Amino acid sequence: MKKQINWLDILIRCKNNIQEQIKPLLKKLDQPQPNLGIGAGGDPIKQIDLAAESAIINTLREHEVSFTLISEESGIKKYGQTPNDNFVTTDPIDGTTNLVRGIPFYATSIAVSTKPTINTIHTALVTDLVHGITYTAQKGKGAYRNNQKITPSKTESLEDAVIGIDLNTYKIQKIAPKLTNLIQRTKHIRHLGANALELCYVADGTTDAFLDIRGKLRTTDMAAAWLIIKEASAKITTPKGKLLNVKLSPKQKVAFIATANQKIHKIMLSLVKPEKEMK
Ligand code: IPD
Ligand code: CA
Repeated sequence: MKKQINWLDILIRCKNNIQEQIKPLLKKLDQPQPNLGIGAGGDPIKQIDLAAESAIINTLREHEVSFTLISEESGIKKYGQTPNDNFVTTDPIDGTTNLVRGIPFYATSIAVSTKPTINTIHTALVTDLVHGITYTAQKGKGAYRNNQKITPSKTESLEDAVIGIDLNTYKIQKIAPKLTNLIQRTKHIRHLGANALELCYVADGTTDAFLDIRGKLRTTDMAAAWLIIKEASAKITTPKGKLLNVKLSPKQKVAFIATANQKIHKIMLSLVKPEKEMK
Protein backbone atom coordinates (compact mmCIF):
# COMPACT_ATOMS: atom_id res chain seq x y z
CA MET A 1 0.00 0.00 0.00
CA LYS A 2 1.23 3.52 -0.84
CA LYS A 3 2.36 5.53 2.17
CA GLN A 4 0.04 8.44 3.05
CA ILE A 5 2.10 11.63 2.88
CA ASN A 6 1.09 14.96 4.40
CA TRP A 7 2.56 17.06 1.59
CA LEU A 8 1.34 20.39 2.90
CA ASP A 9 3.08 19.82 6.20
CA ILE A 10 6.29 18.77 4.39
CA LEU A 11 6.24 21.84 2.12
CA ILE A 12 5.87 24.11 5.14
CA ARG A 13 8.88 22.39 6.72
CA CYS A 14 10.79 22.90 3.44
CA LYS A 15 10.17 26.65 3.49
CA ASN A 16 11.06 26.88 7.20
CA ASN A 17 14.35 25.16 6.42
CA ILE A 18 14.99 27.50 3.45
CA GLN A 19 14.42 30.55 5.65
CA GLU A 20 16.92 29.13 8.16
CA GLN A 21 19.56 28.15 5.59
CA ILE A 22 19.56 31.40 3.60
CA LYS A 23 19.79 33.68 6.65
CA PRO A 24 23.62 33.66 6.89
CA LEU A 25 23.99 34.08 3.12
CA LEU A 26 21.70 37.12 3.06
CA LYS A 27 24.21 38.86 5.33
CA LYS A 28 27.08 38.17 2.90
CA LEU A 29 25.55 39.44 -0.35
CA ASP A 30 27.96 42.37 -0.55
CA GLN A 31 30.94 39.95 -0.71
CA PRO A 32 32.20 38.52 -4.05
CA GLN A 33 30.03 35.57 -5.10
CA PRO A 34 31.56 32.30 -6.38
CA ASN A 35 31.04 31.32 -10.01
CA LEU A 36 28.85 28.20 -9.83
CA GLY A 37 28.04 27.81 -13.52
CA ILE A 38 24.67 27.78 -15.24
CA GLY A 39 21.56 26.14 -13.76
CA ALA A 40 19.19 23.77 -15.57
CA GLY A 41 16.89 26.68 -16.33
CA GLY A 42 19.69 28.53 -18.16
CA ASP A 43 20.55 31.28 -15.64
CA PRO A 44 23.83 31.64 -13.64
CA ILE A 45 23.54 29.82 -10.30
CA LYS A 46 23.95 31.82 -7.11
CA GLN A 47 25.08 30.30 -3.80
CA ILE A 48 21.74 31.29 -2.28
CA ASP A 49 19.75 29.43 -4.99
CA LEU A 50 21.71 26.26 -4.20
CA ALA A 51 21.30 26.69 -0.43
CA ALA A 52 17.52 27.01 -0.89
CA GLU A 53 17.42 23.97 -3.17
CA SER A 54 19.49 21.87 -0.71
CA ALA A 55 17.13 22.87 2.10
CA ILE A 56 14.20 21.48 0.08
CA ILE A 57 15.98 18.23 -0.84
CA ASN A 58 17.22 17.65 2.71
CA THR A 59 13.78 18.21 4.20
CA LEU A 60 12.16 15.84 1.72
CA ARG A 61 14.79 13.17 2.41
CA GLU A 62 14.36 13.53 6.17
CA HIS A 63 10.71 12.63 5.61
CA GLU A 64 11.81 9.53 3.66
CA VAL A 65 9.65 10.25 0.64
CA SER A 66 10.52 9.09 -2.84
CA PHE A 67 10.35 11.83 -5.45
CA THR A 68 11.59 13.19 -8.75
CA LEU A 69 12.92 16.70 -8.28
CA ILE A 70 12.27 19.13 -11.15
CA SER A 71 14.29 22.18 -10.24
CA GLU A 72 15.38 25.34 -11.96
CA GLU A 73 18.87 24.82 -10.52
CA SER A 74 19.81 21.09 -10.60
CA GLY A 75 17.34 20.00 -13.27
CA ILE A 76 15.69 16.60 -12.95
CA LYS A 77 16.93 14.21 -10.24
CA LYS A 78 15.45 11.09 -8.72
CA TYR A 79 15.43 10.24 -5.01
CA GLY A 80 14.25 7.12 -3.12
CA GLN A 81 12.88 3.73 -4.22
CA THR A 82 9.85 4.90 -6.22
CA PRO A 83 10.73 8.35 -7.56
CA ASN A 84 7.94 8.30 -10.13
CA ASP A 85 5.28 8.35 -7.38
CA ASN A 86 5.79 12.07 -6.68
CA PHE A 87 7.14 14.98 -8.70
CA VAL A 88 8.39 18.01 -6.78
CA THR A 89 8.72 21.05 -9.05
CA THR A 90 10.56 23.99 -7.60
CA ASP A 91 12.07 27.33 -8.20
CA PRO A 92 13.99 27.52 -4.91
CA ILE A 93 14.34 31.32 -5.24
CA ASP A 94 12.08 33.18 -7.64
CA GLY A 95 13.28 36.75 -7.97
CA THR A 96 17.00 36.12 -7.46
CA THR A 97 17.93 39.46 -9.06
CA ASN A 98 15.68 41.27 -6.56
CA LEU A 99 17.30 39.35 -3.71
CA VAL A 100 20.85 40.07 -4.84
CA ARG A 101 20.11 43.76 -5.43
CA GLY A 102 18.27 44.20 -2.13
CA ILE A 103 14.82 44.68 -3.66
CA PRO A 104 12.47 43.20 -1.05
CA PHE A 105 10.40 40.94 -3.32
CA TYR A 106 11.39 37.31 -3.81
CA ALA A 107 9.90 33.94 -3.05
CA THR A 108 10.30 30.21 -2.92
CA SER A 109 7.97 28.08 -5.00
CA ILE A 110 7.28 24.34 -4.58
CA ALA A 111 4.60 22.18 -6.22
CA VAL A 112 3.88 18.47 -5.84
CA SER A 113 2.22 16.45 -8.59
CA THR A 114 1.55 12.82 -9.50
CA LYS A 115 3.03 13.26 -12.99
CA PRO A 116 5.42 15.79 -14.56
CA THR A 117 2.46 17.81 -15.87
CA ILE A 118 0.94 21.01 -14.52
CA ASN A 119 -2.60 19.65 -14.35
CA THR A 120 -1.63 16.89 -11.90
CA ILE A 121 -0.34 19.29 -9.25
CA HIS A 122 -2.18 18.62 -5.99
CA THR A 123 -0.24 20.60 -3.36
CA ALA A 124 1.52 23.94 -3.70
CA LEU A 125 3.35 26.54 -1.65
CA VAL A 126 4.76 29.96 -2.47
CA THR A 127 6.43 31.92 0.33
CA ASP A 128 7.31 35.59 0.17
CA LEU A 129 10.70 35.25 1.86
CA VAL A 130 10.92 38.93 2.79
CA HIS A 131 7.57 39.45 4.46
CA GLY A 132 7.06 35.90 5.75
CA ILE A 133 3.79 35.44 3.87
CA THR A 134 2.96 31.92 2.75
CA TYR A 135 0.43 31.00 0.10
CA THR A 136 -0.71 27.37 0.00
CA ALA A 137 -3.21 25.31 -1.93
CA GLN A 138 -4.37 21.73 -2.08
CA LYS A 139 -6.47 20.47 -4.96
CA GLY A 140 -10.16 20.86 -4.17
CA LYS A 141 -9.52 22.58 -0.83
CA GLY A 142 -9.11 26.25 -1.75
CA ALA A 143 -6.12 28.59 -1.50
CA TYR A 144 -4.76 30.24 1.62
CA ARG A 145 -2.53 33.14 2.64
CA ASN A 146 -1.04 32.52 6.08
CA ASN A 147 -3.89 30.06 6.71
CA GLN A 148 -6.65 32.52 5.76
CA LYS A 149 -8.75 31.56 2.75
CA ILE A 150 -8.17 33.88 -0.21
CA THR A 151 -10.35 35.06 -3.07
CA PRO A 152 -9.44 37.21 -6.07
CA SER A 153 -10.69 40.74 -6.69
CA LYS A 154 -14.03 41.56 -8.24
CA THR A 155 -12.61 44.36 -10.40
CA GLU A 156 -14.18 44.20 -13.83
CA SER A 157 -12.93 47.33 -15.56
CA LEU A 158 -9.46 47.87 -16.96
CA GLU A 159 -9.55 51.50 -15.87
CA ASP A 160 -9.62 50.43 -12.19
CA ALA A 161 -7.43 47.37 -12.55
CA VAL A 162 -3.84 46.94 -11.38
CA ILE A 163 -2.23 44.72 -13.98
CA GLY A 164 1.15 43.02 -13.85
CA ILE A 165 2.93 42.56 -17.17
CA ASP A 166 6.31 40.92 -17.55
CA LEU A 167 8.09 42.88 -20.29
CA ASN A 168 11.47 41.50 -19.37
CA THR A 169 12.77 40.40 -22.76
CA TYR A 170 15.30 41.39 -25.40
CA LYS A 171 12.57 40.52 -27.93
CA ILE A 172 10.46 43.49 -26.84
CA GLN A 173 9.97 44.71 -30.41
CA LYS A 174 8.09 41.49 -31.09
CA ILE A 175 6.11 41.50 -27.83
CA ALA A 176 5.21 45.18 -27.44
CA PRO A 177 2.81 45.45 -30.42
CA LYS A 178 0.81 42.55 -28.98
CA LEU A 179 0.27 44.52 -25.79
CA THR A 180 -0.39 48.03 -27.09
CA ASN A 181 -4.20 47.74 -27.13
CA LEU A 182 -4.20 46.53 -23.55
CA ILE A 183 -1.67 49.00 -22.19
CA GLN A 184 -3.35 52.02 -23.70
CA ARG A 185 -6.56 51.17 -21.83
CA THR A 186 -4.84 50.41 -18.51
CA LYS A 187 -3.92 52.98 -15.90
CA HIS A 188 -1.90 50.90 -13.43
CA ILE A 189 0.81 48.63 -14.85
CA ARG A 190 3.32 46.84 -12.62
CA HIS A 191 6.16 44.33 -12.80
CA LEU A 192 7.68 43.39 -9.49
CA GLY A 193 10.26 40.78 -10.57
CA ALA A 194 9.13 37.46 -9.06
CA ASN A 195 6.44 35.90 -11.20
CA ALA A 196 5.39 33.21 -8.70
CA LEU A 197 4.53 35.88 -6.16
CA GLU A 198 2.91 38.15 -8.72
CA LEU A 199 0.53 35.30 -9.61
CA CYS A 200 -0.30 34.87 -5.92
CA TYR A 201 -1.15 38.59 -5.83
CA VAL A 202 -3.84 37.90 -8.42
CA ALA A 203 -5.09 34.94 -6.36
CA ASP A 204 -5.54 37.02 -3.19
CA GLY A 205 -6.93 40.18 -4.81
CA THR A 206 -3.83 42.37 -4.31
CA THR A 207 -3.77 42.87 -8.09
CA ASP A 208 -6.31 42.08 -10.79
CA ALA A 209 -4.25 40.36 -13.46
CA PHE A 210 -0.76 39.23 -14.37
CA LEU A 211 0.38 38.27 -17.80
CA ASP A 212 3.54 36.90 -19.28
CA ILE A 213 3.34 36.33 -23.03
CA ARG A 214 7.11 36.44 -23.61
CA GLY A 215 7.34 32.66 -23.99
CA LYS A 216 10.47 32.56 -21.86
CA LEU A 217 9.19 31.85 -18.36
CA ARG A 218 9.98 28.33 -17.17
CA THR A 219 7.21 26.12 -15.77
CA THR A 220 9.35 25.65 -12.65
CA ASP A 221 8.74 29.32 -11.78
CA MET A 222 4.95 29.23 -11.88
CA ALA A 223 3.90 25.62 -11.19
CA ALA A 224 2.95 26.21 -7.54
CA ALA A 225 1.24 29.53 -8.26
CA TRP A 226 -0.83 27.79 -10.97
CA LEU A 227 -2.62 25.69 -8.32
CA ILE A 228 -2.95 28.68 -5.96
CA ILE A 229 -4.61 30.69 -8.77
CA LYS A 230 -6.93 27.79 -9.63
CA GLU A 231 -7.91 27.07 -6.04
CA ALA A 232 -8.60 30.75 -5.36
CA SER A 233 -11.02 30.60 -8.33
CA ALA A 234 -9.03 33.11 -10.35
CA LYS A 235 -8.44 32.37 -14.06
CA ILE A 236 -5.30 31.30 -15.90
CA THR A 237 -5.14 30.32 -19.57
CA THR A 238 -2.81 30.52 -22.54
CA PRO A 239 -2.79 33.92 -24.31
CA LYS A 240 -5.39 32.41 -26.70
CA GLY A 241 -7.72 31.49 -23.84
CA LYS A 242 -6.92 27.76 -23.94
CA LEU A 243 -6.33 25.44 -21.01
CA LEU A 244 -2.74 25.68 -19.80
CA ASN A 245 -1.57 22.11 -20.18
CA VAL A 246 2.21 22.08 -20.01
CA LYS A 247 4.96 19.72 -18.96
CA LEU A 248 6.86 20.39 -15.77
CA SER A 249 10.50 20.78 -16.69
CA PRO A 250 13.20 23.42 -16.21
CA LYS A 251 13.40 23.62 -20.01
CA GLN A 252 9.67 23.92 -20.66
CA LYS A 253 8.55 27.49 -21.37
CA VAL A 254 5.10 28.86 -20.74
CA ALA A 255 3.02 31.92 -21.65
CA PHE A 256 -0.20 32.87 -19.85
CA ILE A 257 -2.82 35.39 -18.91
CA ALA A 258 -3.98 35.19 -15.29
CA THR A 259 -6.88 37.29 -14.11
CA ALA A 260 -9.09 37.74 -11.08
CA ASN A 261 -12.35 36.85 -12.80
CA GLN A 262 -14.00 35.77 -16.03
CA LYS A 263 -15.12 39.27 -17.04
CA ILE A 264 -11.65 40.81 -16.92
CA HIS A 265 -10.21 37.69 -18.53
CA LYS A 266 -12.51 38.09 -21.51
CA ILE A 267 -11.58 41.76 -21.90
CA MET A 268 -7.87 41.02 -21.71
CA LEU A 269 -8.01 38.11 -24.15
CA SER A 270 -9.76 40.34 -26.65
CA LEU A 271 -7.02 42.98 -26.36
CA VAL A 272 -3.88 40.85 -26.33
CA LYS A 273 -2.74 39.52 -29.67
CA PRO A 274 -1.38 36.11 -28.76
CA GLU A 275 2.17 34.88 -29.29
CA LYS A 276 2.21 31.41 -30.87
CA GLU A 277 1.03 28.82 -28.37
CA MET A 278 3.65 26.84 -26.43
CA LYS A 279 3.78 23.10 -27.07
C1 IPD B 1 12.59 35.37 -12.73
C2 IPD B 1 11.41 36.17 -12.20
C3 IPD B 1 11.18 37.38 -13.07
C4 IPD B 1 10.97 36.99 -14.53
C5 IPD B 1 12.11 36.13 -15.05
C6 IPD B 1 12.31 34.93 -14.14
P1 IPD B 1 14.24 33.86 -11.30
O1 IPD B 1 12.79 34.22 -11.96
O2 IPD B 1 10.24 35.38 -12.09
O3 IPD B 1 10.06 38.09 -12.62
O4 IPD B 1 10.89 38.15 -15.30
O5 IPD B 1 11.83 35.70 -16.37
O6 IPD B 1 13.42 34.20 -14.64
O7 IPD B 1 15.22 33.78 -12.45
O8 IPD B 1 14.57 34.94 -10.36
O9 IPD B 1 13.99 32.56 -10.67
CA1 CA C 1 15.14 31.02 -9.57
